[in-house]
Amino acid sequence: MSDPQEQTTANKGPIRRFLDTPPDNVAKTVTVALGLCLVASMVVSAAAVSLRPLQEQNAALDKQVNIVQVAGLYEDGIDVAQAFTSFEPHVLELATGDFADGTEVEGQVLDPMTFDDRAAAADLTLSAPLTDDPASIRRQANYVTVYLLRNDDGSLDKVILPVYGYGLWSTLYGFIAVEEDGNTIYGLQFYEHAETPGLGAEVDNPRWKALWRDKKLRTDEGEGDLAITVAKVPPAAGREYFVDALSGATLTSRGVDNLVRFWMSDRGFEPFLERVRAGEI
Ligand SMILES: Cc1cc2nc3c(=O)[nH]c(=O)nc-3n(C[C@H](O)[C@H](O)[C@H](O)COP(=O)(O)O)c2cc1C
Repeated sequence: MSDPQEQTTANKGPIRRFLDTPPDNVAKTVTVALGLCLVASMVVSAAAVSLRPLQEQNAALDKQVNIVQVAGLYEDGIDVAQAFTSFEPHVLELATGDFADGTEVEGQVLDPMTFDDRAAAADLTLSAPLTDDPASIRRQANYVTVYLLRNDDGSLDKVILPVYGYGLWSTLYGFIAVEEDGNTIYGLQFYEHAETPGLGAEVDNPRWKALWRDKKLRTDEGEGDLAITVAKVPPAAGREYFVDALSGATLTSRGVDNLVRFWMSDRGFEPFLERVRAGEI
């Protein structure tokens, strides 16, 4: 006759038998650990997937806040989405300075409402690699989204241009607002970077941002040479082209100098700014 203890064990289901194994059983420990990992990863994945639309919505809103701010239209408590409707978005072809709204490129229709600048910079059909790359961005999109702000009579007030480039630790993404003369800076503002708080992150300090107001991109002389400079000492062209570098953050400041000069050059927005200066926009 068999042992009643063995009989009872044999009658138990697999789960009951598993639960009855001693806690120091290796197979039980490994199984419980794997089970916990599986459940935790499912919870994390579900949270990541379900929160993604909200994150994208917040990122889009943050960008809108920055466009509204750099153009000087921001006030506490305003309806940002409403304020953002004042701006006229366009997809710009950088090389020509012409708007490319509605153009079909490699099977994609360039729609200013949906054009994704960052995706375009990574898309092999919409971008080109850079060999001379002062802003350290590796590839440059052929098209970017720009925003126009007009006066009530329809004349141009400002153009808001996206700029980005590497600082010390991170790529800084922002906007530069240029007045209707195509040469006077109204503001520069970054909406994303990972520079050190108190050092490179002082690019967000309102006092430093205020230094950009009324600075000029190009000199009036000759070909209108690009003169805007972020440095510790003013350039030969004079103080109206000079933004004082952040103290203790020379490397981030150099990154900002590089990226602003790159995007304001012939390889960036200069073809478009020429058209702004000619009153064509
Ligand atoms: C932990 C740490 C974080 C730093 N973060 C930055 C930064 O975000 N941007 C920057 O330009 N310099 C940063 N620095 C300082 C640079 O290493 C360098 O000393 C500084 O850019 C020189 O600026 P200065 O010539 O104005 O002193 C950091 C240094 C340390 C130790």
